[in-house]
Amino acid sequence: MTKPLRIALAGLGTVGGGVIRLLDTNGALIARRAGRPIEIVAVSARDRSKDRGVDITRFAWVDDTTALANVDADVVVELVGGSDGPALALARATLAAGKSFVTANKAMLAHHGLELARAAEAANVALKFEAAVAGGVPVIKGLREGAAANEIERVYGILNGTCNFILSKMEAEGRDFADVLAEAQALGFAEADPSFDIDGVDAAHKLSLLASLAFGTQPAFADVAASGIRHVLTADIAEAASLGYRVRLLGLAESGPAGLFQRVHPHLVPIDHPLAHVTGATNAVVAEGNFVGRLLFQGPGAGDGPTASAVVADLIDIARGEFGPAFAMPAAALIEQAPADSGERRGRAYVRFTVADRVGVLAEIAAAMRDAGVSIESLMQRGASHDEGGADGSVLVAIVTHEGPERSVAQALERLRGSQSLVGQPLWMHILA
Ligand code: HSE
Repeated sequence: MTKPLRIALAGLGTVGGGVIRLLDTNGALIARRAGRPIEIVAVSARDRSKDRGVDITRFAWVDDTTALANVDADVVVELVGGSDGPALALARATLAAGKSFVTANKAMLAHHGLELARAAEAANVALKFEAAVAGGVPVIKGLREGAAANEIERVYGILNGTCNFILSKMEAEGRDFADVLAEAQALGFAEADPSFDIDGVDAAHKLSLLASLAFGTQPAFADVAASGIRHVLTADIAEAASLGYRVRLLGLAESGPAGLFQRVHPHLVPIDHPLAHVTGATNAVVAEGNFVGRLLFQGPGAGDGPTASAVVADLIDIARGEFGPAFAMPAAALIEQAPADSGERRGRAYVRFTVADRVGVLAEIAAAMRDAGVSIESLMQRGASHDEGGADGSVLVAIVTHEGPERSVAQALERLRGSQSLVGQPLWMHILA
């Protein structure tokens, strides 16, 4: 029998349990595909006695997670999570020990990916992270291998299943944000800190990795402009629908002469675009290559089975001896591209105001738009429901602009800042072109 690939596994939560179950179920097939068996030899987690529905007594138990780097194994799999702390200590120790490292940890890679990629290259071992972006969807492999011959100018998509679940439920059932968030948490999609999901941080981590892979740039998480969905009202979703759009939280990155642009923001997606039809906790990524055209990767972005599928796919590559640099080119070749100025970008915008229902309010908004050079394509006004802050007699005013520079919309909103006519902050959503 060919020598097995020996795995040390850190983290026995949902995904860790899924990896053990997957290898138990498909082990024979995987050994045929990989040319050798893949065997877990040691594990580490917080609680040894917890019932995980899988037998872990057959593996060596290691109390100190970082010590997994030194057990007799070929690869360490990290499913602990967190950008720093034990996960990062384990990554550094593993690569320093000259062993390959597989992780689902997008936060750690977004913050420390370049350092870890350099360490993996120096040790001539693998650093692989298919499960870190879009769960079971093979988008990392798709970009770094399948689309590797293309120049990619834009990559964007639905990178957070929790937000997509919430938005599509709000749309289908007319329920408000807080109500659907509670359901998403009960279903277990949400991150331990749900603000990472709903404020766009999780999607921003993933976007920074996709951008690096797509453009050959150093991961630049700090330059992602991120906002989330907590201020989206069911009324916004209804207005968007009446205009022929669906609201989706998109991560979008572009690279060009203006620099590297990275944004996570709720967008209006035209109803005839495939992303408008991605519902529930599904993830989807679009990459536009100069020879292949538009690629769409879609599938389950979270959960034990899909995430374990991606982790084990990385292990199969390592077992075959098929791996290259973590970010699709040697770390030294990754360019440090300056961030693009979003004010220079042109586009159409949806801006919703909650306003006091009194004379002159519309004129004030229209004047601010005029003075900033924003051309209004359409304007809707309707009374807000009680849940949407309308108890005080406020109304919603939603404006769609003609295409123009984002700086002008920002200037119009700046002019209106502090206006007695506005109740709360306006919501600005970009319209996907
Ligand atoms: N919490 C993430 C999501 C799943 O909702 O998409 C793991 O990345």
